[in-house]
Amino acid sequence: MKGDRPIVCLTAYDFPSGQWADAAGVDLILVGDSLGNVVQGQSTTIPVTVEEMAYHTRIVARAVRQALLVTDMPFGSFQSGVNAAVENAVTLMKGGAEAVKLEGPYADEIRAMCKAGIPVMGHVGMTPQSYHQFGGFKVQGREVEEGERVLDEARQIADAGAFAIVLELIPIDLARFITDTLDIPTIGIGAGPHCDGQIQVLHDVLGLSEGMFRHAKRYIEGRELLGKAIEEYAEDVRAARFPTREHGF
Ligand code: KIV
Repeated sequence: MKGDRPIVCLTAYDFPSGQWADAAGVDLILVGDSLGNVVQGQSTTIPVTVEEMAYHTRIVARAVRQALLVTDMPFGSFQSGVNAAVENAVTLMKGGAEAVKLEGPYADEIRAMCKAGIPVMGHVGMTPQSYHQFGGFKVQGREVEEGERVLDEARQIADAGAFAIVLELIPIDLARFITDTLDIPTIGIGAGPHCDGQIQVLHDVLGLSEGMFRHAKRYIEGRELLGKAIEEYAEDVRAARFPTREHGF
């Protein structure tokens, strides 16, 4: 789809969100390890396990009919070597993933997964699993040297056989340069408008996240609306307005 039309990507973590994204015609659904933040309430994605990713993949996979379903390889599942990386990717594929995504320039691991028949998506820039190394969620590649590092990593990942790559929190011009340089599609998040596609976290798009990132856009005030609905339900029960005879048997 590179150069065709912008590729629409969104995360999903369970059966209903998988159905919403798929029915809306999203091209690629990512079972992101961001579930550590938005589903589990953790401050980073680091504690998320392969078993948890496999569980969420299984329940999203039941909902997805047309989108490409990609699952994140969590922290610790590919860093210790090629064998562990392939084994863990196999577990996620058996759970229903059609491809996996991993953060960083793990060229040998990507090559081994591709050889095993597993399509791989790369991820560079602000890779959240390296939160402590980066000292927080910081834009990567502002300085020339840093930008060259991000570009070099993206090249290594593409050369290793990845079919697409996420560019997260990097300057607009760097993202444009990487997009023009690589033959594979770039999928941006906080990387400006010149990528081949965009990805967002479901909870940000639906206004369910507590904070708000500059790179995200809320399409509904989900937190407020859902909170009000639950308050109304509670008030109805307390005031004996629900249930009425028509809700009974
Ligand atoms: O885990 C995730 O949701 C991601 C996307 C934000 C790219 O990696």
